[in-house]
Amino acid sequence: QGEELDRRITAAREVLGEKLVILGHHYQRDEIIKYADYRGDSFKLAQLAAARPQAQYIVFCGVHFMAESADVLSAAHQKVILPNPTAGCSMADMANIAEVEECWDVLTEMLGEDAGIIPVTYMNSAANLKAFCGRNGGVVCTSSNAPTVMRWAFSQGKRVLFFPDEHLGRNTALKYGITPEQMVVWNPKNPLLMEGSEEQVEQAKIILWKGYCSTHMRFSVEQIAKARADFPGIKVLVHPECRQEVVATADLYGSTEYIVRQIEQAPAGSQWAVGTEINLVHRLAEAHPEQLIFCLDPVVCPCSTMYRIHPAYLAWVLEALLEGEVINQVSVDEETAHWARVALERMLSLA
Ligand code: 13P
Repeated sequence: QGEELDRRITAAREVLGEKLVILGHHYQRDEIIKYADYRGDSFKLAQLAAARPQAQYIVFCGVHFMAESADVLSAAHQKVILPNPTAGCSMADMANIAEVEECWDVLTEMLGEDAGIIPVTYMNSAANLKAFCGRNGGVVCTSSNAPTVMRWAFSQGKRVLFFPDEHLGRNTALKYGITPEQMVVWNPKNPLLMEGSEEQVEQAKIILWKGYCSTHMRFSVEQIAKARADFPGIKVLVHPECRQEVVATADLYGSTEYIVRQIEQAPAGSQWAVGTEINLVHRLAEAHPEQLIFCLDPVVCPCSTMYRIHPAYLAWVLEALLEGEVINQVSVDEETAHWARVALERMLSLA
């Protein structure tokens, strides 16, 4: 069955030629990533989506919020296709527009209209949250440019409302010398129980949304200690969606693209314990037999929604294109796209 799907995908790609570009996120399984014309982290893929106007079809092998961003950033004549429309992101689902507006209203009531809050949404969010940021002087960030974006926000002497990943927000803010006392956590499921008193909110430099990535929450300082005990001198490399203590204990942290680059540039004999999604870690280990590379989590830690892009879906959408049929298109309505573009382009211009 695998060989048959390979044959079908290859044949469809050949016929579609320049009309098609396939983008693949680093977390995609091997059977998919091998077809990607370009692979990258969320930031790189967003840049690529904005820079390939010759392709009529952008088939995005990743998750829904990435395909939405590609639609927002691509030209009007381009169509973005997500092979499996159920490939979402549980973290992105932890913030919706009603909850963000409620939080915004509470904060402006508490702090006053001139409170100077910049909303910053992580790329892992629905297009209407990016649009909210665009409308309110805010911006999008990804794990690779979160420090740049936060520096921009803090340099204006403003507070930041950061959603939906509490951990990326905290890890990045700490880098800028924001202390834990200057952070409060907003729990959208129970807004009245903001983790911090009203006084703390007034002093807060950053309001963190209580959201998380369940894959990255699997990594712990105990796993790091064990890796170091088993392999003295090993380097621990994690994603900034991990908990603060994990990031603080690791040797290095950064986006998926950063993780790939560190390993690709390392000399033979290097040893790495990596805290991120398993398909990426396995692929790096296979590509670099001259190094020791393993996942910090000894069980498994796939991103279950990235895994939903199966070759059968890819074959299906490509063969439909041969028939002139666009299926599983991701399309953001014009009004939302306009404001989401403001926030995404602000991010791209900062980088
Ligand atoms: P990167 O931007 O590092 O690729 O991260 C994407 C992501 O969704 C991680 O969970």
